Amino acid sequence: MIDVVEQIGRIGIIPVVTIEDAKDAVPLGRALLAGNLPCAEITFRTAAATAAIRNMSEALPDMLVGAGTVLTVEQAKQAQVAGAKFIVTPGFDAAVVGWCLANDMPITPGVMTPTDINQALAKGLTLLKFFPAEAAGGVKALQVIGGPYVGVKFIPTGGISAVNLADYLRLPMVHACGGSFMVNKKTIADGDFATIAQLAQTAVDIVKSVRSES
Ligand code: 3PG
Repeated sequence: MIDVVEQIGRIGIIPVVTIEDAKDAVPLGRALLAGNLPCAEITFRTAAATAAIRNMSEALPDMLVGAGTVLTVEQAKQAQVAGAKFIVTPGFDAAVVGWCLANDMPITPGVMTPTDINQALAKGLTLLKFFPAEAAGGVKALQVIGGPYVGVKFIPTGGISAVNLADYLRLPMVHACGGSFMVNKKTIADGDFATIAQLAQTAVDIVKSVRSES
């Protein structure tokens, strides 16, 4: 079985999804698969998160389903029981990180500063979410902040779009990017899954195009 971190790296872009109604999870997953994007980070920003993770994981075994915006150990536990294969947090939370490490759950904590990165490194974590990427200074900031941390890879998230995705992916310290631009809440609520499939394919094409440069 391919390691989750490796799978995320191969896919190159993680759709960050907020689902209001768990019944949308399976059609959304199908749309992402149709756009050749077999991954979703379902955020704990709504009460539907756990059911959405369960629905998508059970119905679509080809999808790599993770949980995002995990703020508590309880949410991390719920995510694991529901079938999540990885956990993403907006900042560095020692309790959540500790629980994930003790329970073989891949965890990508959010970092923005060298101090945050040091905390994660002290726990042995070398794949970190750079959040909020654009508001923190974008590509230039990540280049400078990540520069000293040889061996640490980042998943920039926050303000990523089809316009700047390639610039992030070209950085050697970027493992993949995260973003909600192909899965916005309104498009999901409207049931416009054709648009989601199209936007997913566009993002996948950008990843492929950047990777073919090297
Ligand atoms: C997240 O939850 O990681 C971010 O809110 C995603 O950021 P975006 O909506 O700007 O892509």
